[in-house]
Amino acid sequence: MQKAASTTTEKANGAIAPKQTLRNLAPYTQGTSTVEGFAEPIKLSSNESPHGPSPLAIAAYHETAARLFRYPDGRQTALRKAIADVHGLDSAQIVCGNGSEELQLLLVRAFVSPGDEVICSEFSFVMGRIHAEAQGATIVTAPEPKFRADADSILARITPKTRMIMLASPNNPVGDYMRRDDLARLVAATPKDVIIIYDGAYADYVDAPDYGDGLTLWKQAPNVVVTRTFSKLYGLAGLRIGWMCADKSVVDAVERIRTPFNTSIAALAAAEAAVRDVSYAVSVKAHNARWLAKLTATLRGLDYDVFPSVANFYLLRFDAEGEFTAERAADFLMKRGIIPRPVSAGGPAGCLRITVGLDHENEAVIEALKEFSAGRARKQAG
Ligand SMILES: Cc1ncc(COP(=O)(O)O)c(C=O)c1O
Repeated sequence: MQKAASTTTEKANGAIAPKQTLRNLAPYTQGTSTVEGFAEPIKLSSNESPHGPSPLAIAAYHETAARLFRYPDGRQTALRKAIADVHGLDSAQIVCGNGSEELQLLLVRAFVSPGDEVICSEFSFVMGRIHAEAQGATIVTAPEPKFRADADSILARITPKTRMIMLASPNNPVGDYMRRDDLARLVAATPKDVIIIYDGAYADYVDAPDYGDGLTLWKQAPNVVVTRTFSKLYGLAGLRIGWMCADKSVVDAVERIRTPFNTSIAALAAAEAAVRDVSYAVSVKAHNARWLAKLTATLRGLDYDVFPSVANFYLLRFDAEGEFTAERAADFLMKRGIIPRPVSAGGPAGCLRITVGLDHENEAVIEALKEFSAGRARKQAG
């Protein structure tokens, strides 16, 4: 009997093609981590914490060695309680994931069906967009005219088919944040059957009085979900651990599809110790704030176009052509063992994103960019 042609796979040049919704997707590109000739380059390409995790988190991680033959606590009880204690939440509202990225995947799987529209604010996290597209959703991009998520821009794109809105605040790669009143307006005007994913991967760094972390918004708007991560301020990117806070109905939906052991024993223990070590987190945050202000002021003083940021990175815009392009600047920094992140499609054109590093790393960036711009100053003078 002849086999019916598969609707989901087909052979192209002998290869098995993935399902239709995956065909236009490109895999995520990770920030570069090596430079030829430098055994220990200054890696400022992935917004990791240069301080590493709290010593208490490292100790808790080591202590799990004797328990590695056991499955982790699938209910994540201790970590959810620690997060709830520190942030003044109820642990029943919290779910932990293999990075906040996994939680965004689960939310998409739980709420988005093929043919639905998902509005992605322009500088939201690229993986959310990839998950939604893979799910068969139509992606609608809401531009960020002021380089931050914008209520009017998002609201103008809501249709009866909209099922989800994704935005990051602070966003990436710019580092600016949606003002609290703008967020309130968005939440108030969004239909309650549209899930809003408010990605706060960099929220731990923000002190701005008009920033809202959104953690209790679910009380008035059960369609708002906040995702957070231990990958940034808490220095645990390598362990893959994040969390979300949402209304019980959203938590229940995610719990139906979460694999029970998505977070490892080591990740659960280290994150619990990390979130409870508030004084370490405060010191990391203070270092970042101090350097972010200094880097911004110094580089602007050298005539660099630095976008305003409240996160643990800053974005520099270079000339579109000529000798002072982002490409040449990246090359110049790499030759000095400094790794920035060139902004690819999806970010403002002609930019480099650089993570705030340790003292000597930031000083090295300033020195290198001083040298890079000296050529320009001479040229302008001549
Ligand atoms: C805005 C934003 N959201 C989410 C993530 C992913 O975080 P996680 O490591 O928790 O998956 C990142 C990582 O760079 C990010 O920039």
